[in-house]
Amino acid sequence: MATLNLNHVAWAAESQRWLLQDINLHVGQGEFVGLIGANGSGKTSLLRCAYRSSQPAAGNVRVDGMDLWQQRPRWSAQRIAVVLQEFPQEFGLRVNDVVAMGRTPHQGLFAGDSAEDAQRVAQALADVGLAATGERAFASLSGGEKQRVLLARALVQQPGLLILDEPTNHLDPRFQLELLQHLRRLGTSTLASFHDLNLAAAFCDRLYVLAEGRLVASGTPSEVLIAELLLQVFGVAALVDRHPLHAYPRITWITQ
Ligand SMILES: Nc1ncnc2c1ncn2[C@@H]1O[C@H](COP(=O)(O)OP(=O)(O)O)[C@@H](O)[C@H]1O
Ligand SMILES: [Mg+2]
Repeated sequence: MATLNLNHVAWAAESQRWLLQDINLHVGQGEFVGLIGANGSGKTSLLRCAYRSSQPAAGNVRVDGMDLWQQRPRWSAQRIAVVLQEFPQEFGLRVNDVVAMGRTPHQGLFAGDSAEDAQRVAQALADVGLAATGERAFASLSGGEKQRVLLARALVQQPGLLILDEPTNHLDPRFQLELLQHLRRLGTSTLASFHDLNLAAAFCDRLYVLAEGRLVASGTPSEVLIAELLLQVFGVAALVDRHPLHAYPRITWITQ
């Protein structure tokens, strides 16, 4: 299990004003950390900095204490797995092929998939409830199934750190819960952005709140998810009480 630290990270898209400023964020070993914020607040951009896709203009990103941008791409691929919002256009590929891509960082230059790789692929598909789909075309799956295949690809990578951009977007409630429960059981250090604050409250150890490219709050869900902050960040009034069956907060948006 890896640790992640962003220290004073700043980033801007080419010829744009600063988008991310002075980002300080920590994911401890085995921690499940959520990132929340309005549309356009910079969540996806922050995650890109954390998985060696966008290079920060200032500050640094450390994985297990090592500066990510001082390492080779393969070094980060062996440690960090990513599940993004958009689906890759893997039209010609079978589900097995898509999942097997996750093994690439662990294979030698000319090595193909070993029997062990094939077994890991089958196991990962079974873990996400898609044991029977390996021979199907990836493009033929539903959005929710594709999302779970991409999670399986991330899992066979055996990452120390998982980065997920709104991982439950395409999933119905049952699969949302199953996926997050599965991720929690894995115990891998995880940084995930969330749209659904009630899911974030239920599954995250800690949350960071992003507004216009700056972190404006962090802490446990109970510390962070308070009505004043939600009004400030999302511009919507909310009633926050306790989940009737659990200790975590429950958010009810107040509509006029
Ligand atoms: N590569 C880029 N070039 C130009 N603008 C960008 C780029 N990446 C992000 N942005 C802009 O930065 C803002 C934040 O985007 P994003 O990180 O996707 O936010 P979020 O994931 O919270 O919705 C948006 O206004 C987006 O249009
Ligand atoms: Mg986004």
